[in-house]
Amino acid sequence: MAAGAPALNPALVFIGFMGAGKSTAARQAAGALGVQPVDCDALLEAELGGSIEAFFDREGEAAFREREAALTARLLEGADGGVLALGGGALASERVRAALARHTAVLVDVDLETAWARAHGRGRPLARSREAFAARHAERQAASAAAARAVLPSADAVPAALEALRGLAAAPAGTRLLWARTAGGDHPVWIGRGLLGRLAWPLAGRRFCVSDEHVAERYAGALGDLAGLVEIPPGEAAKTLATAERVWRALADMGVTRADHVVALGGGVVGDLAGFCAACYQRGVPVVQVPTTVVAQVDSAYGGKTGVDLPEAKNYVGAYHQPAAVVADTATLATLPPEEHAAGYAEVVKTALIAGGELWDRVAGGAAVDDDVVFACARAKLAVVAADERDGGRRQVLNLGHTVGHAIETVTGYRRYRHGEAVALGLLAALRLSGQDALRGEVAALLAAAGLPTVLDAAVDPAAVAAATRQDKKRVGESTPFVLVDAPGAVRHGAAVAAADLLAAVQELRA
Ligand SMILES: NC(=O)c1ccc[n+]([C@@H]2O[C@H](COP(=O)([O-])OP(=O)(O)OC[C@H]3O[C@@H](n4cnc5c(N)ncnc54)[C@H](O)[C@@H]3O)[C@@H](O)[C@H]2O)c1
Repeated sequence: MAAGAPALNPALVFIGFMGAGKSTAARQAAGALGVQPVDCDALLEAELGGSIEAFFDREGEAAFREREAALTARLLEGADGGVLALGGGALASERVRAALARHTAVLVDVDLETAWARAHGRGRPLARSREAFAARHAERQAASAAAARAVLPSADAVPAALEALRGLAAAPAGTRLLWARTAGGDHPVWIGRGLLGRLAWPLAGRRFCVSDEHVAERYAGALGDLAGLVEIPPGEAAKTLATAERVWRALADMGVTRADHVVALGGGVVGDLAGFCAACYQRGVPVVQVPTTVVAQVDSAYGGKTGVDLPEAKNYVGAYHQPAAVVADTATLATLPPEEHAAGYAEVVKTALIAGGELWDRVAGGAAVDDDVVFACARAKLAVVAADERDGGRRQVLNLGHTVGHAIETVTGYRRYRHGEAVALGLLAALRLSGQDALRGEVAALLAAAGLPTVLDAAVDPAAVAAATRQDKKRVGESTPFVLVDAPGAVRHGAAVAAADLLAAVQELRA
């Protein structure tokens, strides 16, 4: 751009793997915005004077990438607003990545199976060998995740997500958007630093905040225009029906109606309890989750599970109630006490074990819990939830480490261990039951380095913990199914475990 020339507007740029639906997404967005979409592959074919496949076969991949990069970079450098769809391999070029930085890059997600089904047998040169295709899919994940400011589950999410996608340009620098797909409707998940008070509020209507005393004091003011605030005591001991009743009655006193919404501002305790209150109050009012702990930002704010504990067992009364939006301001983590940070790290390790791939590599490599890790964990969890919202199958993998973890919390009266601390111990038990000696050692070292317990308190009776796993909500008939790990990224649910093995795995935690 020449000096003094007016700044160019950012464009919406759809990126993604072969078969993701980038061109469809761009067409839909452009149609809604009343502009012509720019399809880089189509323009490239015009420039090459024939099909991409023919050029590829004749001249080879390197020559093709050179032409692709030159054209794509030129288009991105000159784009003034508008909508573009990039070719699947364009991000390999540094010049393209640099030119993309001033735009809103939107990744259209596609899983390997779907991509292969769409691309194979259509003459695409890179979709001939399944093995090479899978390797390329894995390899491109990292580059596209790093470039994307937004991730959509598929191209058909564009019409509903368009307003939020456009809102990214005005959001604080570095803000990212995940579009969560659920049976009850989709919703935006905003993740970034300094969102509170600066992100345009995602829902119309009066806002009634539920928060705990620690968090309300620090952050309720930053939410701006609140019509009311209900404070609960901090900590797991407040996640009860009695507290829920207090919240319901406060909402009723304030005259909250279905045109209003609840804002759950705090950690997982507030998120679960306020979400449950919103699910039941007048048979359901919307809730916006505003998570302020690592546990909540990497895990509990997503997926719509809400509820309270009973003295008999954890999370025993609850409801599925998907949020209308999630606003995760990672700057709030700066005031989180170190022990709470550590507790959240257990959920990060759990999520990384389930997701495998790049997230596991980062976590196993000792990465700190930064915005990228928060975003990657949220994305991994939402992908599992989208596949099985109501816990009928795949979602149960999210329970990794939680069967023993919840049992430890229950037998210690929800007071001795933070949820994340109990999950840390539960993960070690699950890895023992999985027969994963080396991985158990690796995970124990990560947890210990984060300040998490890897040894169970001597006062806790292993037999009581083993017995409490029988209260697990996943129990069917006589046996409680376990989530076991074959390798990072290969986790299975519904595994039967012998009582003696379980007891031994818990006893080992005392050693
Ligand atoms: N619904 C789900 O899918 C799901 C998933 C995982 C965990 N959970 C639930 O989450 C709960 C644990 O959540 P948690 O670990 O966030 O605990 P928490 O909500 O009790 O928060 C921990 C402590 O940190 C304080 N705090 C919160 N944000 C702060 C901030 N930014 N600065 C300073 N202090 C702050 C709180 O006041 C509290 O004292 C458990 O009840 C667990 O069952 C639910």
